Amino acid sequence: MKHMLMRFALTLAGVLLTGSAFANSELELQSFRPEYSNIASMQRGARDYMAYCSGCHSMKYLRFSRIAADLQIPEDELKANLMFTTDKVGEPIKSALPAASEQWFGRVPPDLSLVARSRGPSWIYTYLQSFYLDETRPLGVNNTVLPGAAMPNVLWELQGWQKKVAHDAAAGGEGAKAEHHGTAFESVSQGSLSPEEYKQFVADVTNFMDYAGEPGKRDRISTGIKVIIYLVLLLVLTYFLKKEFWRDIH
Ligand code: HEC
Repeated sequence: MKHMLMRFALTLAGVLLTGSAFANSELELQSFRPEYSNIASMQRGARDYMAYCSGCHSMKYLRFSRIAADLQIPEDELKANLMFTTDKVGEPIKSALPAASEQWFGRVPPDLSLVARSRGPSWIYTYLQSFYLDETRPLGVNNTVLPGAAMPNVLWELQGWQKKVAHDAAAGGEGAKAEHHGTAFESVSQGSLSPEEYKQFVADVTNFMDYAGEPGKRDRISTGIKVIIYLVLLLVLTYFLKKEFWRDIH
C-alpha cells in the first residue's frame, strides 16, 4: 500500500514538473482579458478590423446586421464605415481577396470568425504587437508568436517598425533558451500612433474579435448574473418560509 502511494506521488510530481517545463518553453503571451461589455471599444475594433483586416480575412459566421444590433451601430453608419464588400446588411463578412491569393502569401488568409476561441484573446493581442523586421523572410518580417508567419505586417504605418533583441541572453547562462523566449523589441522607426495608442488600437481589435467568436457572450453573462441573483433571493425567501412553517412545532 505504502509502495503504491509512493508511486502515485512520484507520478503526480512528474506530471506537475513536466507540465511546468512545457509552460516554460512556450513563448510568453501578454495576458489580455476581453472587455465584453465595452461597446465603444468593440465599435472601434469593428471599424478598424474592417479597414485593416477584412481585405484579406473573412468572418463567415458573422453578419453585418448582427454587428449593427449587438454593437448599437445605426444602419447608415454601418454602410458608410464598415461595409466594403457588400451592401446587404444580412450578408456575412467576406474577404475582398480573389482565389489567387494563395500564390501571393503562400497561404490563404484564414477565416477569423473563431480565432479568438481557438487561439485565445491573449494570443491575438500579443500577435498583433509582435511583428519584427527579419531579412531572412520573403516579406522582410517575422512574428515571435507565429514564427514564419505568411501575413505581412499590415499595421506598420500605425506601429512603426521594430527589431527583436534577446534581452536576457547576456544575463542568464541559459543560452538558447533565453534567446528563444526572452524576446524584447527595440523600435527602429516610429509609427503614426504612440506606443500607448497602438496598444489601445490592438486591444480594440482584439475585443471585437473576441465578440465575433461568441456574439451572444454579453447576453449569456448578463443572464447568468440575473439567474444567480434570483436564486440567492429565492434562498433567502425559502429560509424565512421554512422558519415560518416550523415555528409552532419547535
Ligand atoms: C495582406 C493580407 C492580410 C491582411 C490585410 C491581414 N492578414 Fe492576417 N493573415 C494573413 C495570412 C496570409 C495569414 C496566414 C499566416 C500563416 O499562417 O503563416 C494570416 C494569419 C492571421 C492570424 C493567425 C490565424 C491563425 O490562427 O493561424 C490572425 C489572428 C490574423 N491573421 C489577424 C489579422 C488581423 C487582426 C488583421 C488586421 C489588423 C489581419 N490579420 C490582416 C494575411 C493578412
